[in-house]
Parts: sequence; structure tokens; C-alpha cells
Amino acid sequence: MARKKVTVVGAGNVGATTAQRIHGLGYADVVLVDVVEDLPQGKGLDMLESGPVLGSDAQIAGSNGYEATAGSDLAIVTAGIARRPGMSRDDLLLTNMKIIGDVTRSVVEHSPDCVLMVVTNPLDAMVQHAYEVSGFPRHQVFGMAGVLDTARFRTFIALELDVSVEDIQAVVLGSHGDDMVPLVRYTSVGGIPLTELLPDEKIEQLVQRTRQGGGEIVQLLKAGSAYYAPSAAVCQMAEAVLLDKKRILPCSVYLDGEYGIQGLYVGVPVKLGANGIEEIVQVDLTQAEKDALNLSANNVKELLEVMKNAA
Ligand code: NAI
Ligand code: 2OP
Repeated sequence: MARKKVTVVGAGNVGATTAQRIHGLGYADVVLVDVVEDLPQGKGLDMLESGPVLGSDAQIAGSNGYEATAGSDLAIVTAGIARRPGMSRDDLLLTNMKIIGDVTRSVVEHSPDCVLMVVTNPLDAMVQHAYEVSGFPRHQVFGMAGVLDTARFRTFIALELDVSVEDIQAVVLGSHGDDMVPLVRYTSVGGIPLTELLPDEKIEQLVQRTRQGGGEIVQLLKAGSAYYAPSAAVCQMAEAVLLDKKRILPCSVYLDGEYGIQGLYVGVPVKLGANGIEEIVQVDLTQAEKDALNLSANNVKELLEVMKNAA
């Protein structure tokens, strides 16, 4: 079977680790694009040379242009600037908006049928911009954040209970920011509701740590933001598309009335397969959960307003 083709735009921390993970899987060829001369070529060649050790025959090459990306099945956009201490994700808005617009036009010109996954922050506003620039139907354009936020929540629960991360099921809704909504009611450990295993105050501490999970890493790294867990999350979503796995994962998607939200990209559970977003999974929310989701969605609306005024 012919290998699938994946473009990763941005050969920085998230892009390079994502490209490395996908190349290592062996069933998709990767083109890594960046504006910095020779950087994607150097990283791509280095990764290619890991193939014999990893047992991967997949091809990987770097480029400063888009010709080599033509006909990609999946394009993953990580290009842009990242947070440093003292910066919120929103501080990246206008710089990254310009980059996302340029990158999306180039990706779409060369791969008009691809599925487009955006990673650049502020996530929900950037994926909405990519959607509008691309002209793609909404199922083809989505963003990665919920899988990462959920992984952080699962990690903190596993640490607290001293159990395997594999046994923890959770879902985090909302925009990728401090107002994200970890759904405690739908969180379980080996099928047992989390609320049966931990007191409310402890759960609230884990929820807060999850909301500030990105900032915690920025404070430690100082020169940038997280990339190992983010690239693992991107790779899981890429696998769902490339292998048509139809995974149920939280992704940032364009809501057209679902969850009572109209015309905005926000994180909710979806079925992810070869066509991208194959279904938006709607679960019942309490009034408090709906309020929290709406608050989180309003943050995206405010960023879109700033972008509209700057355009
Ligand atoms: P980084 O600074 O290490 O890499 C960014 C790369 O983008 C650089 O190599 C830069 O040269 C490249 N770039 C800039 N403009 C470009 C253009 N027009 N075309 C192609 N490449 C271009 O940053 P890092 O850590 O890789 O983060 C990338 C983005 O992902 C940031 O905006 C960050 O906030 C976001 N992020 C989002 C996450 C999420 O959960 N959605 C998680 C982690 C990071
Ligand atoms: C994170 O949550 C920077 O958004 C990124 O780590």
C-alpha cells in the first residue's frame, strides 16, 4: 500500500518532534517546511538517517517552499511564535494570524484535498482563521488542544491516585486557555467515576493545575513552551486520520449550533477519521458546565474581534 503523505509546517520544537514521531511510525512520508534556510532540510535529513535504526522506510525531507508538499493527505501547521514567561497564548495573536494566513494559502494551493490540523496558538482563533482562509468545508479543518489538555488532566489524576495513566478516561472542553473546561462528571478511572475516588477539593486542585498546565511548562523552560506532550497529542490525532481510526477525541472544531454555540471554533469531542471531523459528539451538560463552556467560547469571540479590527 502506498504510504500517506504528511506536511508539517514549522520545524521548531513542536513541528520537529511531530515530524520525528510520524516518520518513526513508518507508514507516512513527511515533508517538513520552515522559513529558516536549511533548518528543515537539516532536521529532515537527520530524521531520515534514524530510519535504519528505527526500522522506518518512510521518507522525510525538509523544504523552504511548498512544491514538495503537493498532494499531501494531511497538513499540520505549527508555524509561528511560542509563549515565553509572562506571555499568554493570546499575546501571540496578530503575529501568528499573519503567519497562519500565509501558510494556509500555500498549503491549500498545493494540497487542495488535504485535511488541515492547526497547532499554532492562540489555538482556537488560529484554526478559525485557517478555516476562513482555506475555503475548506469545516470537517477538513480542526485544531489540536483538547488531547493535550486531557493528557495533562489524566497525568495529574494518575499521579494523585498512583494508578496507570492508561486507566484514566477524561475529556476537556472549551478553548485552549485558562478557562478550559475539564469535565469532571465524565472522568473515570477503570470505569469508576473520579468523584468516588477523590474529594472535591483535590479534584478542583487537579482541574486548576490542568488549566495552567501550559504555563507551568513555560515557567520551567523559560525559552519556549511545551512540545513533547503536544507533539504526542498531534501524532495521536494524525494517526486517527491516516489510519481512519474514527477515534473519539476532543478537538477544536467549528460549531454550527452544536452545544448552543454558533460560528466559532471551540474544543468538543468528535469522531476523527480519514475525512477529518466525521461527527461532532454532543453530550448533555449541566447548567454550570454550559456556563463554563460559554465563558471559554467568549474568549475566542474576543480574539476574533481583535483580528477583525486588525485585518
Ligand atoms: P518554535 O519557535 O520552536 O517553532 C516555530 C517555528 O515556526 C520556527 O522554526 C519558525 O521558524 C517557524 N515559522 C515561523 N513563521 C513561519 C512561516 N511563515 N512558515 C513556516 N515556518 C514558520 O515554536 P513551537 O514550540 O514549535 O510552537 C509552535 C506553535 O505551537 C506556537 O504558536 C505554540 O504556542 C503552539 N503550541 C500549541 C499547542 C496546542 O496545544 N495547540 C501546544 C504547544 C505549542
Ligand atoms: C501548551 O498548552 C503552549 O499551548 C501550549 O503547552
